[in-house]
Amino acid sequence: MLILGLESSCDETAAAVVAEGVVRSSLVRSQVDLHRQYGGVVPEIASRAHLEAVDVVSREALKEAGCHLANLDGLAVTQGPGLVGALLVALNFAKGLSLAMGIPLTGVNHVKAHALAPFLSPVGGPAAPAPDFPLAALVVSGGHTHLYQMDDYLTFRPLGRTRDDAAGEAFDKTAKLMGLGYPGGQVIEEMARLGDAKKFHLARPMLHEGLDFSFSGLKTQVLTIYRQAKLADRPPEDQSLADLAAGFQAAVVEVLVTKLLAASQAIGARGAVLAGGVAANGALRRGAEAALAERGLPLYTPPLPWCADNAAMIAGLGERQLARSENILELTAEAYPRWPVA
Ligand code: KG4
Ligand code: ZN
Repeated sequence: MLILGLESSCDETAAAVVAEGVVRSSLVRSQVDLHRQYGGVVPEIASRAHLEAVDVVSREALKEAGCHLANLDGLAVTQGPGLVGALLVALNFAKGLSLAMGIPLTGVNHVKAHALAPFLSPVGGPAAPAPDFPLAALVVSGGHTHLYQMDDYLTFRPLGRTRDDAAGEAFDKTAKLMGLGYPGGQVIEEMARLGDAKKFHLARPMLHEGLDFSFSGLKTQVLTIYRQAKLADRPPEDQSLADLAAGFQAAVVEVLVTKLLAASQAIGARGAVLAGGVAANGALRRGAEAALAERGLPLYTPPLPWCADNAAMIAGLGERQLARSENILELTAEAYPRWPVA
């Protein structure tokens, strides 16, 4: 099946063409420069920017894949969770295309789609891995920190979630309070490379307390250290700033890896998934891979461009849903700003 996927749940307008799990094209137009001055995503600005981009990005995705609207067998769009005004842009655009072309449209859960990103194949690249189930799946992004049991590609059971900040949100807020800019994940990772994680020991919240997470206390701890050590007065290249970034990252990574491993063991998983924007973090990828390898379990994690928000993952999950006629949308379908996976 040739599927066009569309995504506009947060601050990326994305379109992708996927056929039989192979990504023929994947375009992402990021709005990060528009939101940077506010230190976070402004919903109204996001919706307007999606409106300006959705048509162009879709055309480019079709062009790059060497196909036309008339070749498509179906459409997939993010129906939730996300910012409602942002979601409605791609949703309504996709409804229009579905009506005009007479092809089915399926509504995709964004978080579930992240977890399927490791099982997409790049065009001309190696075939995607075919895992044994069940899998333990950790989706970590700016808006989500969820652990699931995956019984197959479409059947998810929740195992744990954050009780406050998402892991990516913790990176972003910590970077902001350390004056490092927005978004914070990549900046902190770069600084942490130069730092000594043992200089400042940060808490490992809820480390051995079930499969839920809590990250909001960590940023407060960083803020306390930052003030007490008077780090605001230091130049950006000061070693203590790098040490604090490294200490923070080590705490988040240890908690995420420990819980992914605990979830894998609890459900007798045959492997684990690590996905979402934070899965781009090298320390997290290496930590999770090593911990799972020690138990003889494979880790499935997407290539870097498919960690962050993209439409390839939406089209990929959409193709599987369309094959089963799952969640086919009528013109009256609504966006779901909150949409639990299971
Ligand atoms: O999946 P994503 O693009 O958007 C959401 O669905 O939220 O994830 C964005 C999040 C941001 O919080 C960003 O700081 C974080 O992913 N992130 C990282 C890294 N790259 C992006 N966090 C840690 N290390 C990174 N290298
Ligand atoms: Zn996302």
